[in-house]
Amino acid sequence: MKAIKSYAAGVVFLAAIGQVNAVSAQDATAGEQTFVKCRICHQIGPGAQNSVGPDLNGVVGRKAATQPGFDYSDALKTSGLTWDQPTLEKWLKAPSALVPGTKMTFAGLTNDRQIANVIAYLSQFKVDGSKK
Ligand code: HEC
Repeated sequence: MKAIKSYAAGVVFLAAIGQVNAVSAQDATAGEQTFVKCRICHQIGPGAQNSVGPDLNGVVGRKAATQPGFDYSDALKTSGLTWDQPTLEKWLKAPSALVPGTKMTFAGLTNDRQIANVIAYLSQFKVDGSKK
């Protein structure tokens, strides 16, 4: 009886984990749709290069303005920011409110869900452009 109970608990536990994974994969897929707005200026994934904006591979968790070979604004270079989740949320909502004088001339995303999804999408990529 005890064994059955713990088996049942295990199944519930695994089901819960499965759900968490499914949700984050879904978020990243939805984020890829939102990233269409960013693609005008940013590349990500295998072979991504700097263009109007810097290559975004591995950006989540990285110090701001440190992608080699990109000519950042002084404003971003001296911002002292690190792209953790809360900082990215503020940035994507209103880049020039977080960093006045930034070269990222993008009005920002208004929808919190879209912001979270696009961050989930960015988080998937390692510095070399492969997925984690
Ligand atoms: C009109 C062009 C443009 C669009 C659209 C744009 N960006 Fe940017 N982005 C830039 C530029 C230019 C910079 C460098 C800013 C600076 O140097 O001040 C930048 C910087 C960034 C950075 C900081 C990178 C670093 O290495 O510090 C992140 C993160 C970022 N953008 C994410 C996004 C996301 C996500 C989107 C879409 C929701 C987006 N950007 C849309 C041009 C753009």
